Amino acid sequence: MSETTDPRARHQELVQEIEEHRARYYGDDAPTISDAAYDALERELHDLEDAHPELAEPDSPTQTVGAARGETGFASVQHRERMMSLDNAFSIEDVEAWFARLEREVGTQEVVCEPKIDGLSISLTYENGQLVRGVTRGDGTTGEDVTANVRTMSDIPETLSGDHIPDIVEIRGEVYLPLAAFEELNARLLEQGKPPYANPRNTAAGSLRQKDPEVTATRPLAVTTYALGALEWGQAGADARAETQAGIYSVLAGWGLPVSEHTRTLSGVEAIERFLAELEDKRHSMVHEIDGAVLKVNSRVVQGQLGSTSRAPRWAVAYKFPPEEVHTKLEDIRVDVGRTGRVTPYGVMTPVTVAGSTVTYATLHNRHEVKRKGVKIGDTVVLRKAGDVIPEIVGPVVAARTGDEQDWEMPQGCPSCGTELVEQKEGDKDLRCPNSQNCPAQIIDRIAFIGSRGALDVEVLGEKAAAALVDAGVLSNEAGLFSLTEADLARVPLFTLESDSKKDGIERKAGDVSTNGLRLLENLESAKRQPLWRVIVSLSMRHVGPTASRALATAFGSLPSIREATEAQLADVDGVGPTIAASVTRWFDVAWHQDIVDQWAAAGVRMEDERDSTVGRTLEGLTIVATGSLEQFTRDSVKEAIISRGGKASGSVSKKTDYVVAGANAGSKADKAEQLGVPILSEVQFVELLERGPQQD
Ligand code: IVH
Repeated sequence: MSETTDPRARHQELVQEIEEHRARYYGDDAPTISDAAYDALERELHDLEDAHPELAEPDSPTQTVGAARGETGFASVQHRERMMSLDNAFSIEDVEAWFARLEREVGTQEVVCEPKIDGLSISLTYENGQLVRGVTRGDGTTGEDVTANVRTMSDIPETLSGDHIPDIVEIRGEVYLPLAAFEELNARLLEQGKPPYANPRNTAAGSLRQKDPEVTATRPLAVTTYALGALEWGQAGADARAETQAGIYSVLAGWGLPVSEHTRTLSGVEAIERFLAELEDKRHSMVHEIDGAVLKVNSRVVQGQLGSTSRAPRWAVAYKFPPEEVHTKLEDIRVDVGRTGRVTPYGVMTPVTVAGSTVTYATLHNRHEVKRKGVKIGDTVVLRKAGDVIPEIVGPVVAARTGDEQDWEMPQGCPSCGTELVEQKEGDKDLRCPNSQNCPAQIIDRIAFIGSRGALDVEVLGEKAAAALVDAGVLSNEAGLFSLTEADLARVPLFTLESDSKKDGIERKAGDVSTNGLRLLENLESAKRQPLWRVIVSLSMRHVGPTASRALATAFGSLPSIREATEAQLADVDGVGPTIAASVTRWFDVAWHQDIVDQWAAAGVRMEDERDSTVGRTLEGLTIVATGSLEQFTRDSVKEAIISRGGKASGSVSKKTDYVVAGANAGSKADKAEQLGVPILSEVQFVELLERGPQQD
């Protein structure tokens, strides 16, 4: 796209682009741009026409809806009443402006607030209560006849129920594929080795526009209805006529049509904003995808006063959530070697904002995933970040390919040390670099891991510091980490001063160890006194995370005892089991691993937990779940407090849970405890329990 500054030329460009995208979106071809990018084009066109009204011809996309007519293979049907689109609000400020305009023009109004379902609109015509036609929106005036397909949908009654049935009625709604059905469909396709669908909306559109209704019948499409089109009452009488939007939903429900259970009628902009926030929170737990909310003036009389533009009613607005799916370019696929040798491909993309954060990298998990997704280097890809979930490359936009894209091959050798990559067990999805002793990437990652919060929490020791120590030849692996001296750090550029300086009255010369370097040595000193389980975590034994490490530390009390224990003794520990036991035994069999433990011990790293005699075993045999934020404890220290007193700290509430400790903002776990009748303790009660144990009274 070449952007021009001449308004007329830019207008023409935008019109052409928007029309092409509309044709794809409503037609048989997959979209080539994201919804968000499309909205931006429409917005630009809108603003351009506001500034240059002479450009706004009646057939401009700002005045029309949907796709222009083309050859589609379905019969064309004219709607009795036009199918409208909605104007968009992209921010709370836009919603406030819409509401303020309402107040100015027609006074304070009740507003019906409902989810904006991400599907495709349908118009259902009933004559004397019998379904006679189902038609897609098309260009708003004429749509495609998909009656045979609509009849396969169990949500849509053949006959309306109730007493007041009009002679003719057009009912408008949104057809969607429930998320669960979408995921099931994709799982099935994957099993058959076929590529999965990109998203539920396109799948629903494809399913409804099948030439063979039997195919549609296999897709559990659903509908939510939200508007009326043409309406002729005949004998049914005017008494059934709804005076409000909410009333329309009661009438629709009375006829046996699905309406949204999330709809609320609200007064005042604050209540509306609360609704929007709550809906956004619920966004990922709904049965279907939503891309925003629709706000509608409740009074139908006022709706009539406000009227419509050629494409959208003035009495309604669509509030769009920030997009969760965007398009960006996949610039490269690289591989990362982790601390256990696992080699993971990841995508490097042109940075893009999605769900509020800028994303450049996304994991592609393993070589099979890259193949399954069918992405090539140079592809435009769909990037999705749903809420707090990590960003995911969904797949390529095949229609946007230029032919310059490159296939990617998993390297055969480790990108760090060149050793041939292997499957650890036959059929493993992951490839690993087996050279754990000497592969620089693995060594650096293991050292950085020791510094991480979940291990020994050494503030200065991150990926960069670990790499600097290894690159300078000061460390050849983690064995020497706790014996580092100032003289060692003087050989590492990252930890030395670049020029002479003076701090706290002390003269320091270029080449001296920097403050940061001195802090690293101090941090390492304090790390030596961390509890035993954290030392075990830091050894990077496969499968041995915090839970297993805690269990081992509690059961054996010291690293030498764990080393001497037989595999069977290890497996016997609650929370350990055979896989972890085998992994621990195998780890200790390796000479250079033993050397790590010996060197750490010689440097003064804790090798056994002191049994704190002031702490009693007050929680022996009790299972406790802590949830929400506590004032005196962190997530880790609360577990520590429970385990050191002989209790079991669990993450999920069940009938076996003895107590749930609920801090501020405790969520579903506290609810579950209440359901199951598990006692819930406040922080004060918990501290009392720690001291005195359960009281028998
Ligand atoms: S009302 C006269 N309500 O969003 C008003 N539309 O972007 C017509 N949509 O074409 C639409 N959920 O396909 C309305 N609760 C809802 C909706 C909804 C989804 C779709 C509909 C419409 C499009 C506009």
